Formats: sequence, C-alpha cells, structure tokens
Amino acid sequence: MDQDPVAESLECFAARCADPAAAVYGRLFALHPEAEALFLMDPGGHVRGQMLAVAVEALLDGGGRLAGLVGIERMNHLNIGVPLALFDGFFNLLRAVVRDALGADWTPAMAIAWQARLGALAGEKNSDANHLAAGT
Ligand code: HEM
Repeated sequence: MDQDPVAESLECFAARCADPAAAVYGRLFALHPEAEALFLMDPGGHVRGQMLAVAVEALLDGGGRLAGLVGIERMNHLNIGVPLALFDGFFNLLRAVVRDALGADWTPAMAIAWQARLGALAGEKNSDANHLAAGT
C-alpha cells in the first residue's frame, strides 16, 4: 500500500491513461496556446517527456533534494521565454489533469496531499527569481 497519496494518484493516472504526456501537454496547449511554439524543436516529444518526468520527480520529492533544481529550472525557463507564473502553474495543471482522469477515485486524502505538496514547492521558490520578479 502506498503511503503517499500524491504517488498513489500518479500511479492510478499512469495505469488508466494510455498517454499521460499527451493528456498533460494537450491541456497545457489548450489553456496556453502560445506555449506550443516553444516546443517546435521537439517534434518527437522527447524533451516534453523528459520535462514531465523531472516535474513529477520533483513533485514526489516534495520540498526535498530536488527543490533547488526546480528553482534553477524556473530561472532557465525564464530565459527561454517561459514566464514564472506559467512555469509555476505547471504543477497545478498536472493536478487538474490527474484529478480529472481519476474522477470518482480522486480521494480527499489525495486532494489534501497535493495541496500540501504544491505549497511546499511554491515555498521553495528560488529567492533570486523572486528578487528578479520584484525588480529588487
Ligand atoms: C508551462 C510551464 C512550462 C513550459 C512552457 C516549459 C517549456 C519548456 C521548453 C520549451 C523546454 C525545452 C528547452 C530547450 O531545450 O530549449 C523545456 C525543458 C525542460 N523543462 Fe520545462 N517548461 C515548463 C515547466 C517546467 C517545470 C514545472 C519543470 C520542473 C522542474 C520543467 C523542467 C524542464 C526540464 C528538466 C527541461 C529539460 C528537458 C530535457 O531536454 O532533458 N519545466 N521546458
């Protein structure tokens, strides 16, 4: 039995969704059509797959070892034209896709655990990025 409801929800999502990456990026491009052009150099989807894998890893890690990596990626993404708000919204988008795919199997424990995990990730934002965004 899985101890972590976030991991449990992701496992359930992977088990019932034939193409998780297509579900995630389909929703991203529907909400933010401008983001699709950023992936023109990735026709095979390898970069997208890798990016999703790293984001999921960071999510499962909570505020642990990979929190610094997320902070660094925020800055890297700013440089390639991904605004901070869009970057940060990716984790919320992931939650929405997983929640919708699980339907009635999305439990209150999952909702609580996801909320806490998203909060932990937001709290670990790179302070350099915050200074930059604030112009300080
Ligand atoms: C909507 C939000 C996001 C957009 C539009 C976006 C866009 C992109 C783009 C265009 C690339 C390719 C960069 C290049 O090779 O020139 C990329 C790569 C990458 N992104 Fe994101 N990103 C987003 C959110 C995230 C998040 C939340 C993470 C979590 C850490 C992340 C992690 C990565 C990683 C690790 C790569 C490198 C993948 C590889 O080539 O191995 N991204 N992203």
